[in-house]
Amino acid sequence: MISIEDMASFCKRRGFIYPNSEIYGGIAGFFDYGPLGVELKNNIKKEWWRYHVQSRADIVGIDGAVISSPKVWKASGHVDSFADIMVECGNCHERYRGDQLIEDNLKIRADGFSDKKINSLIKEHKLKCGVCSKPLKDNASSFNLMFETFIGPIKNDESKTYLRPETAQLIFTNFKLTHENARLRLPFGIAQIGRSFRNEISPRNFLFRCREFEQMEIEYFVHPDKREECDFIKDVLNHQIIVYSEEMQKKNTKARKMGINEALKKKIIRNPWHAYWLALEHKWFVSLGAKSDNFRIRQHLKDELSHYSTDTWDLEYNFPFGFKELEGIADRGSFDLDQHIKHSKKDLSLFDEEKKKKIVPYVISEPSLGVDRTFLVFLFDAYEYDKKRDNVVLKLHPKLAPFNVGIFPLLSNKKELIKKSKDVFDLLKNEFTCFYDESGSIGRRYFRQDEVGTPYCVTIDFDSLKKNDVTIRDRDSTRQIRVKIKNLNEIIKELLNNKIKFEKAGKLVK
Ligand code: GAP
Repeated sequence: MISIEDMASFCKRRGFIYPNSEIYGGIAGFFDYGPLGVELKNNIKKEWWRYHVQSRADIVGIDGAVISSPKVWKASGHVDSFADIMVECGNCHERYRGDQLIEDNLKIRADGFSDKKINSLIKEHKLKCGVCSKPLKDNASSFNLMFETFIGPIKNDESKTYLRPETAQLIFTNFKLTHENARLRLPFGIAQIGRSFRNEISPRNFLFRCREFEQMEIEYFVHPDKREECDFIKDVLNHQIIVYSEEMQKKNTKARKMGINEALKKKIIRNPWHAYWLALEHKWFVSLGAKSDNFRIRQHLKDELSHYSTDTWDLEYNFPFGFKELEGIADRGSFDLDQHIKHSKKDLSLFDEEKKKKIVPYVISEPSLGVDRTFLVFLFDAYEYDKKRDNVVLKLHPKLAPFNVGIFPLLSNKKELIKKSKDVFDLLKNEFTCFYDESGSIGRRYFRQDEVGTPYCVTIDFDSLKKNDVTIRDRDSTRQIRVKIKNLNEIIKELLNNKIKFEKAGKLVK
């Protein structure tokens, strides 16, 4: 796997990601998506929405505002508790995130360590500033991660609010209306994709930790008396995944691959809803070409749980800097709805017709995935250096690739070829995302499309003018085949949907 720095430079070179405000020297923790990045990112979001919302009868979506009343963030606990520990060098004023400082220097996991614990480790190990090498002081303190902003022309405490640090709260505040309008019955989920903002102390590792990012989140609500009744569990019982439970971490044993049925039977994962969502999320990644064994599920240790959670498992991915959180799947219980009932004084309960009583649903599982980390995962697992071709081949799943088809006239100085190629572009453009290219040798044009993941390229040559046919080239095998232009749409559709494949002999097979 290439390093995160090399991935960042590849992304910039090929138009996936640009550092924000680069012409002014840049700004840490913010990135812009370029022409190819925006296509890949939109495809990721489209596939996530189709899998989690449109193809299910029990989940609906919303799209909430980035800014809400500050009362939302007071009730949710973010104003009081959404903080990281910061350590500042007394000499050069470099600022560190406490847990990262400990992890980098002492090579131990430090998620959730208190300011006291971090201070005592700084003292005990005489840690020094990475920039000026002077000894660090034990001045660790809590730093709230929310970005503040003001509503209206006057800036004071009354007009102060925050950019949302998670999309989830909008689901809770719209819970009652969504439940009624969408005629939902428990168990059900509400999903959302959107931007979140966190004033991270030290953003790093490219897109992995930014200050502005996107999340794809679901709050999945269940009846409080039926917290362990998951009818979907049978769909994932045989699914295999690498598991790293709290007990394994405490005993220092290795993570182990096992079936969901074993994890449940041995009570390694306690709640079937939790097991279901962990498996389902892993399956989604693998279905879109990610490599199964690059993932594991890790249970949070008690002292790293968020303020709202009683049990959390992360889906982790093996990034070049180690296994790290890709998606958090927390048991939030009824924490959020209870808090909003208390603070808003509105009744957000549902009526249980069977038991004739009001109930507040539980969120046993909140699958919460970062779009930008997902973007990295698909890029890392697709990136291959092909020695024979002496070129990068980005083996992205056709549903994710920025372009479905590259279209090239064999020569750029022949008017007839260009005209015919543009006709082919017009023929395909409404059904597929196409890229037209007439510059450079045909070999270079193939290489350029291999590098950005285009699964098929169509070349128009002199025979095409006589016979009305073209060549289709397959990115992964470089095999080529000749097809009639009148069949081109259908053949490309079947190739993209994996209904037909290229065969060695240059034939297409079912
Ligand atoms: N609503 C729950 C929640 O927000 P989280 O674990 O704080 O939980 C969920 O965030 C996901 O959002 C993470 O697993 C990660 O993929 C993404 N994420 C969080 N902070 C991020 C950051 N600073 N930069 C990029 N992605 C981030």
